[in-house]
Amino acid sequence: MHQLKHAMAAVLFIGAVSGAEAATVTLSCSALGAEANLCREAAERWSAETGHQVEIVHPPQSASEQLALYQQLLAAQSPDIDVFQIDVIWPGILGQHLLDLSAYVDDASLSAHAPAMAASVRRGDEVLALPWFVDAGMLYYRTDLLEAYGREIPTTWQELTDTAALVQEGERAAGNDRFWGYVWQGRAYEGLTCNALEWIASFGGGTLVEADGSISLANDAAAAALDLAAGWVSAISPPGILNYTEEDARAVFQSGDALFMRNWPYAYALGGAEDSPIRGVFGVTVLPRGGPDEASAAALGGALIAVSRYSSQPDVAADLALFLTSPEEQRRRAVDGSYAPTYPDLYEDADLIAAYPFLGLFGETLASAVARPASVTGGYYNEVSSIVYGAVHATLSGDASGADSLAAARRELIRLSRGGRW
Ligand code: GLC
Repeated sequence: MHQLKHAMAAVLFIGAVSGAEAATVTLSCSALGAEANLCREAAERWSAETGHQVEIVHPPQSASEQLALYQQLLAAQSPDIDVFQIDVIWPGILGQHLLDLSAYVDDASLSAHAPAMAASVRRGDEVLALPWFVDAGMLYYRTDLLEAYGREIPTTWQELTDTAALVQEGERAAGNDRFWGYVWQGRAYEGLTCNALEWIASFGGGTLVEADGSISLANDAAAAALDLAAGWVSAISPPGILNYTEEDARAVFQSGDALFMRNWPYAYALGGAEDSPIRGVFGVTVLPRGGPDEASAAALGGALIAVSRYSSQPDVAADLALFLTSPEEQRRRAVDGSYAPTYPDLYEDADLIAAYPFLGLFGETLASAVARPASVTGGYYNEVSSIVYGAVHATLSGDASGADSLAAARRELIRLSRGGRW
């Protein structure tokens, strides 16, 4: 098991030399963008307040690889990690390994979170985790280039395709041969399921598996969405897009080499940082839609903090989880890292909105956000997602049409769900 723990990067101890009462808890948090720093600062704060120590470990960057590692650790009932940052789609998958936190959090505090986030952590009377931040896919664009080329912010995917091609051609002719029209997440992993869900739902093609469990993904609108996206590869998006995660897309956009990017809110603070080449020349808005009669769709994401059932110090671990997810900490992460809080009250915070005007718009984005079918497929969600991203990746790679990939995925999903019963 120690080997697994060491598969995680950057082990770091925080806190004073332990006294008689001091405990050491291990916290696993992501290291995407500024997350490692934010996590360390929070741990230092908690450590100073409580006298306990924190050992921080970081899992791999891809959500799918994180889950695989956590599943191995937890299946072995390892006490190595006490507190986990988990994805909003994982409670149904990891639930049996997570400590019920209902003894530590009262209903009023839980209800202070946005209803969708509060609902994502409840299982019957149990509270399997605490909401930490909420994510929704957004469209980042270059204000300077749109203006220079006399183009509007695109509201449909076709407009995005056309504008991206035009500006890419112009920028290349002007000498930047590394310039691309649109960067996003095309690797075969959870992030591609998010992108695909956004394309498909905004074409009116449903949400892959619907709330009643029915498998809806094989339809003409969904196939058209995938075929359009497949046409981006090597045209307005780099060939390497088929292996891009969030950070790969951000690297290109933030260095000034792309017109549009699909990403989560965290990229906003980093793009606006003092040393960022695109500081002051980019904006963020809702993602395009399939057509004028369709609605934009943002995949709902985010993170929760959970305590392992195998922790040898559940009380101390729960205290750290409560601290990390408190309104004060969420406000700090919003200010320092543009992580969107799970407390609706914070969206009324004038200072916060002044620092990040997009958070004002974020309410609108969230209202149109679509959840991945994690609750309805429960423990099967990870298989569902991997069938979906595998099929989408095949179409993006030019191996099968959108219609053929989706038909194949539908057959696999029917088999997995035993005919839609999940
Ligand atoms: C972000 C989201 C998460 C999603 C992941 C996909 O971390 O918060 O919900 O699963 O991206 O890459």
